[in-house]
Amino acid sequence: WAAFSDDIEAILTLKRERNAVILAHNYQTPEIFHCIADIVGDSLALARKAMTVEAKVIVLAGVHFMAETAKLLNPDKIVLIPDLGAGCSLADSITAQDVRLMRQRYPGVPIVTYVNTSAEVKAESDICCTSGNAKAVVESLGVPRVIMLPDEYLAQNIAAQTDVEIIAWKGHCEVHERFTPADIRELRENHPGVTVLAHPECPPDVVAEADFSGSTAAMSDYVETQKPPRVVLMTECSMSDNVALAHPDVEFIRPCNLCPHMKRITLANIRMALEQNHHVVTIEPGIAGRARLAVERMLAI
Ligand code: 13P
Ligand code: SF4
Repeated sequence: WAAFSDDIEAILTLKRERNAVILAHNYQTPEIFHCIADIVGDSLALARKAMTVEAKVIVLAGVHFMAETAKLLNPDKIVLIPDLGAGCSLADSITAQDVRLMRQRYPGVPIVTYVNTSAEVKAESDICCTSGNAKAVVESLGVPRVIMLPDEYLAQNIAAQTDVEIIAWKGHCEVHERFTPADIRELRENHPGVTVLAHPECPPDVVAEADFSGSTAAMSDYVETQKPPRVVLMTECSMSDNVALAHPDVEFIRPCNLCPHMKRITLANIRMALEQNHHVVTIEPGIAGRARLAVERMLAI
């Protein structure tokens, strides 16, 4: 940690001076997650907790759609993202025009949009969901058929758990789509007794081979409550690093895939964001109102 102490000290001081809080996703590196973050969690927890923030400034240590969600829920606060290039392959897989076309093609079918999308896409949808509440959101609508955008694998994984018919899109997470069932079989062979947890953005055949599937928070809770002696998390690499620090008694097997977008956020650029007040997240008012409604409908469930 010594290599980080200069930036950590500076960030802690800047937070006090600027009345700022740092929200960090579970995929942030341990020095961010454990040393400077005020609020940590999965996408759902970050959205929920963003509503309770009293500070003037929110720094989002995560990707751009998370910063937009925080801004939607805190229109009067300054929301900063340390690197504007921190995107997401799912958010990039669909545009607002695509959603409008889906609505035309399936008139009357409600559109559920994953939070991993731009505010423009959220604005065209009826309600948002995260990996932590997707099934509950789909079933809350009380209809036999919904459109769920843009993660094809999440849609298929939820479809396997519900009677509601789900029409999917072709978006994929570039991190989770790389895991295969063969990876899991090999892990089980090389590490007998290992418990395999997979994120629902993984392909359905990977989820089928796993012992448990859930959001990043659900995976963390699983380790906390079940205390498996050996575990592998089929997800982004920092997740295991962060959970392992809290569970020295659990053996973590660590094949993982890095998210290049999450990894754009560093202590150095968080410090700079607070020093220079950049990059300020803004959302066009005409879009923000409709997008906020979709997020608030989700949070009401
Ligand atoms: P959750 O933390 O909501 O499970 O999402 C994972 C993810 O990939 C976010 O980008
Ligand atoms: Fe997007 Fe996948 Fe990275 Fe999450 S892990 S931010 S879904 S590319």
